[in-house]
Amino acid sequence: MKAGLPTSATITSVRKLTSDTTLFALRCDDPAAAGAPLPAVASFLPGQFLELSLPGIGEVPISYCGIPSSDGTIELCIRHVGHVTIPLQNAKPGDAVGLRGPFGLGFPLKSYENQDLLLIAGGLGMAPLRSLLLALLVERGQWGELTLLYGAREPGALLFLDELLYMSQSSDIRIYLAVDRRGSCLEGIPHCRAALLPALLDQVMLQPERTHAALCGPPIVYTPLVERLNQLGLADERIHLSLERRMKCGQGRCGHCAVGTYLCCTDGPVFNYAMLKGIEGALV
Ligand SMILES: Cc1cc2nc3c(=O)[nH]c(=O)nc-3n(C[C@H](O)[C@H](O)[C@H](O)COP(=O)(O)OP(=O)(O)OC[C@H]3O[C@@H](n4cnc5c(N)ncnc54)[C@H](O)[C@@H]3O)c2cc1C
Ligand code: FES
Repeated sequence: MKAGLPTSATITSVRKLTSDTTLFALRCDDPAAAGAPLPAVASFLPGQFLELSLPGIGEVPISYCGIPSSDGTIELCIRHVGHVTIPLQNAKPGDAVGLRGPFGLGFPLKSYENQDLLLIAGGLGMAPLRSLLLALLVERGQWGELTLLYGAREPGALLFLDELLYMSQSSDIRIYLAVDRRGSCLEGIPHCRAALLPALLDQVMLQPERTHAALCGPPIVYTPLVERLNQLGLADERIHLSLERRMKCGQGRCGHCAVGTYLCCTDGPVFNYAMLKGIEGALV
């Protein structure tokens, strides 16, 4: 399959995560013959994205949310906000969609080897960071300390909470959670407090010379997070963040997703902060 042409895929499972967000599993319809490579769209790195299309309606960029699987199943976590994503609220197993990708540059896993890793997710940013987190856990021996800070509006908006609480029982990872709304009932949610996401950094002891941070969340949290990480001694090159821009072609042709002289779809969506520093509007 060429990245420019959609391949058809079938939804194999649908799991409601919150009132407006669903986790879909999909499988490409041309499963590889025995021994043949999987379709390109099923081979990806955490942080990359694909374009999902509904015939006759439109196409949207969506981040990979899981890790590549040997049978070509792909997981996507989708918030239902507009003319393509709202119809997906009614999608069910057996329904067909189009997929093309993978696109963009993901998180630089090579440079993470033997380093401590601090993953910071806000809201729906947990979707691409779950892909990174699962990839890191598969090869756990390759990295140093692994810490996840994750914040959402309220307890009911914490995505993958069951999975995260299960992971937090192992010594492989430390997880700290936050919800914005004071007065929220946090009973039954260990490691969670009412605070804004950047405040979770106060709970972390990091060794800046051997730590990389991977951030994904609403733009409003990036500036305070980067400032605090810099205060903790983390160099700009060690801070990777994923940017979201309105996209059209997804392949560097239309210019819709420009960030300064970069294109979010081909130079990103994951950038190191040293690249973005000084570009007006990069973090909005
Ligand atoms: C690289 C990348 C990865 C993404 N990954 C995911 C993901 O994993 N899960 C997910 O649910 N969404 C993700 N998105 C956002 C998703 O693409 C948009 O929500 C989607 O395009 C909305 O399309 P729509 O036709 O349903 O809504 P529209 O009818 O186009 O818009 C509905 C509302 O959403 C706003 N909106 C649309 N697109 C964006 C955007 N890119 N950023 C901010 N606001 C937007 C519009 O301004 C409008 O208010 C990602 C976007 C990018 C660029
Ligand atoms: S979406 Fe067309 S150049 Fe990036």
